[in-house]
Amino acid sequence: MSKQPIGIFDSGVGGTSIWKEIHTLLPNEHTIYLADSNNAPYGPKGKQTITNLCVKNTELLIHKDCKLIVVACNTATTNSIDYLRKTYNIPFIGIEPAIKPAALQTKTNAIGILATKGTLSSALFSKTTDLFASNIKVIEQVGDGIVSLIENGNLYSEDMKLLLKNYMQPMIDVNIDCLVLGCTHYPYLIPLLKEMLPKHITIIDSGEAVARQTKAILKQNNLLNTETSTINSQFYTNGDVSVLKPLIGNNYTIDYLDF
Ligand code: DGL
Repeated sequence: MSKQPIGIFDSGVGGTSIWKEIHTLLPNEHTIYLADSNNAPYGPKGKQTITNLCVKNTELLIHKDCKLIVVACNTATTNSIDYLRKTYNIPFIGIEPAIKPAALQTKTNAIGILATKGTLSSALFSKTTDLFASNIKVIEQVGDGIVSLIENGNLYSEDMKLLLKNYMQPMIDVNIDCLVLGCTHYPYLIPLLKEMLPKHITIIDSGEAVARQTKAILKQNNLLNTETSTINSQFYTNGDVSVLKPLIGNNYTIDYLDF
């Protein structure tokens, strides 16, 4: 079973930021990535719709013989991972906004969270915020429009810069010193954010932590791949292959799949 791939899915291309962390930490693991770009963005959708999409993605990855599934989407994790864990007999790793590290690190007692509506309105997000950030100022900002611009191939565009400036200004005004990126599409915005944010603001995302947790759970279940054959990283999208390609480079196969 340890030779089987790790399955990774996201509402679209953003979860490749997590795939990169996993591939770097676990270069000996086969991976299958699903970009559900045809259904992006998940953020404005209701909990039941998000769960139905997660079920569809999970069943495809199980059908492709995955040994563990990484839900590389904050919106999907915060709304649906409990249901997935209850329903399927396979380990799931999720991703949530890194509120705890930001709350521990802040000196100005003010942190910003940029995430989707689905993540910010979830019960899991409220629970984590109450637990770790009840005595600091938390500026929540819904990143409306960001995922769609990325999914349409307009990552480094003027429209994106304008959107981000509007979202960042209220956070800068209250002197945040940590910005939590609560969506796996957002690490791709880091070059733009660094240009517009004051230098003392630290940008925090959960990608590395997810890779470490993936390794720990594989180890705990005796599922780490011990074979040193050629490693296969397979990508499937039900959207536009040309949007996914620049994010992962030319060394990997991307196939269009209707799922
Ligand atoms: N990458 C997804 C996340 O982490 C984007 C959500 C969306 O599709 O709106 O939340």
